[in-house]
Amino acid sequence: MKPIKDATVLVTGGSKGIGLAIAEAFASRGHDLILVARGKGRLEQAARDIRDRTHVDVTTIAMDLSSEDAPQRLFETVKEADRPVEILVNNAGVGMTGCFPQGDYARMTQMLRLNMVALTQLTHLFLQPMLKRGRGRILNVGSVVGYFAGAPNWSAYVASKHYVLAFTKGLSRDLKGTGVAATVVCPGTTATDFVETAGASRMRAYQAPGGVSVEHIARTAYRACQKGRVSVIPGAFNKLLAFLGELPPRSIAFEVFAFLSQQRD
Ligand SMILES: NC(=O)c1ccc[n+]([C@@H]2O[C@H](COP(=O)([O-])OP(=O)(O)OC[C@H]3O[C@@H](n4cnc5c(N)ncnc54)[C@H](OP(=O)(O)O)[C@@H]3O)[C@@H](O)[C@H]2O)c1
Repeated sequence: MKPIKDATVLVTGGSKGIGLAIAEAFASRGHDLILVARGKGRLEQAARDIRDRTHVDVTTIAMDLSSEDAPQRLFETVKEADRPVEILVNNAGVGMTGCFPQGDYARMTQMLRLNMVALTQLTHLFLQPMLKRGRGRILNVGSVVGYFAGAPNWSAYVASKHYVLAFTKGLSRDLKGTGVAATVVCPGTTATDFVETAGASRMRAYQAPGGVSVEHIARTAYRACQKGRVSVIPGAFNKLLAFLGELPPRSIAFEVFAFLSQQRD
């Protein structure tokens, strides 16, 4: 597909980590931005830094996307400001580790709402004007764990990323011939605040070599999104993990990932 050159890009979770790097990748190629996250201070700092470096227009919206009415409110806010969004980046996501029965269910619900429900609702809302214009892109941030045959110790998080991968693959086919494309980028372990928030710093997977920088992830995601590719995995080691994850018998892959998901003392 032909790249969309002059689109406004909305990035959820665009204040830091992978989302900020993706926002910068679009801004450095001249795209105006709308950044969404909860923390206002960091959001505004990110916007100032991007404006200073690239001179694009950056709007910030502070919002908790895990609350039930947030996706609709976000869509209305953007519509009222008359800022047609032609590229939607569903990046905001959190992780949660620990044995499921002992997990804090309220926190888990918030994670599932953010990682799956908000992503799906935002996609549905922002797709409608894209389809009318016959032009647009959805870029969803999944994870290489979406290729795992399930994994203990972060079972709900891993399942939420299975959802993002399967949803985007199906959606991509639904959109064929419309001028709109959906892409899922599946990063592996990446050094961001996610690791601490998810309680994953002692997990074997996060202590293994092969991490990829957020800039590399962002460049890979940008190119795949503009080309309208269905899925992309940044980094050779992560590609290998995804390949192994889908290889039959998946029971062996499950044991490998169960090992990688253990916390070290
Ligand atoms: N880091 C990894 O190892 C890794 C690997 C694979 C996939 N991923 C995926 O990459 C995506 C980004 O993660 P990251 O590593 O960049 O994490 P991060 O550095 O913690 O950034 C998360 C971003 O999402 C925002 N956010 C979190 N909760 C939110 C909420 N309820 N409503 C709105 N915004 C919210 C955060 O800002 P506020 O906290 O201010 O809201 C921040 O901007 C996630 O979907 C994650 O699952 C990460």
